[in-house]
Amino acid sequence: MHNIRKITEDLIYIGANDRRISRFENQHPVPNGMSYNSYLLLDEKTVLLDTVDKAVGDLFLENLHAALKGRALDYMIIQHMEPDHCALIPRIIELYPQVTVVGSQKTFGMIQQFFGLDLAERAMVMKEGDTLQTGAHTLRFLMAPMVHWPEVMVTYDETSKWLFSADAFGAFGAINGNLYADEYDVDFDLMPEVRRYYTNIVGKYGRQVLALLEKIAKLDIQMILSLHGPILRQDMHYYIDKYSKWASYTPEEKGIVIAYGSIYGNTEKAAELLAAKLADRGEKNILVYDLSAWHFSYILSDCFRFDRLVFASSTYNMEIFPPMENLLLELKGHNMQNRAVAVIENGTWAPQSGKKMRQLLAEMKDMRVLESEITIKSAMTPADDKALDDLVELIIAA
Ligand SMILES: Cc1cc2nc3c(=O)[nH]c(=O)nc-3n(C[C@H](O)[C@H](O)[C@H](O)COP(=O)(O)O)c2cc1C
Ligand SMILES: [Fe+2]
Ligand SMILES: [Fe+2]
Repeated sequence: MHNIRKITEDLIYIGANDRRISRFENQHPVPNGMSYNSYLLLDEKTVLLDTVDKAVGDLFLENLHAALKGRALDYMIIQHMEPDHCALIPRIIELYPQVTVVGSQKTFGMIQQFFGLDLAERAMVMKEGDTLQTGAHTLRFLMAPMVHWPEVMVTYDETSKWLFSADAFGAFGAINGNLYADEYDVDFDLMPEVRRYYTNIVGKYGRQVLALLEKIAKLDIQMILSLHGPILRQDMHYYIDKYSKWASYTPEEKGIVIAYGSIYGNTEKAAELLAAKLADRGEKNILVYDLSAWHFSYILSDCFRFDRLVFASSTYNMEIFPPMENLLLELKGHNMQNRAVAVIENGTWAPQSGKKMRQLLAEMKDMRVLESEITIKSAMTPADDKALDDLVELIIAA
């Protein structure tokens, strides 16, 4: 009756899906919902690894109760204090008053801030490399500051070689019955949402993610159990390789994102024409996005994926068309860098968007703006068409 899942004899999945949520962090669309993972280790001691979002709080408490089968809860490990995981901490303390709470130094200050709870009496503060013996299992804690928040730590089970990775290796989307990533069509159904989750939620903190990857490179890992999305137990190198690329702002592969902001459709026409010309010259992996139709999170994700980016925008009150300005600000906010970029502007009386887009790009690191000034005055002319041909050559050479 309870949707709890046996991972092994002594490790139980007790998380839950929220399929009613429309925007994660009230910002990112999640058409496939969201999973909030929580794990219960049934060793000589019982150990809960993180709680869940309040949206699935009742389900989670029922799951925990059922999985404990009457046993007491000895430890609650808090890896991350963002409310999508920590919301049920006060309820756990009410229901299991003898529980010891395990976290990093910063965790307990945040518990005080969010809930007004002083847990000093029951706190077990972990530093880098500290361990907790729970019976057969030895859990080692590795600090992972800014993957995604400053208090984050991950947990390595030295006995079973499991890495509980907090938000790292998480994904947007609910878990569809299958608990393991290898039971999905990874490239089609999983990786796009693993990428969009990473780039939008953690993408800004590449340096800190690289530091975590360096730590875990030394470990023998049989399973990665994150707080969102399916569990990894095969092809871990595939995910780790994607993470090292994203964290170092290295494109995954050759490809071109053409993002446009267009009011009447003239800039759109130029974007479509450019895509066709690039395709005719043999380029593959071309993605054309109308910024008014797509949430920025999808485009930001593909900007992490591909090596060349084209931004085409009409002018709007002497500024960049707002959806384009928003995308560029988000790219900057997420530390987007190291890409070849082309800019196309449009305006009827005083085109300004090109200059303003270049200004924003100049505030990012190593965004190599191609030497081509394409200014469309209202509608494309034969000269603009020729300029597009020249741009195609620059993009191919970049
Ligand atoms: C609200 C609004 C503000 C605009 N502001 C400017 C402007 O400041 N300078 C300019 O040259 N054109 C401005 N335009 C005109 C468009 O940028 C111009 O017509 C452009 O060619 C539209 O390209 P599109 O067909 O891709 O939308 C504005 C249009 C609108 C609707
Ligand atoms: Fe988070
Ligand atoms: Fe999270």
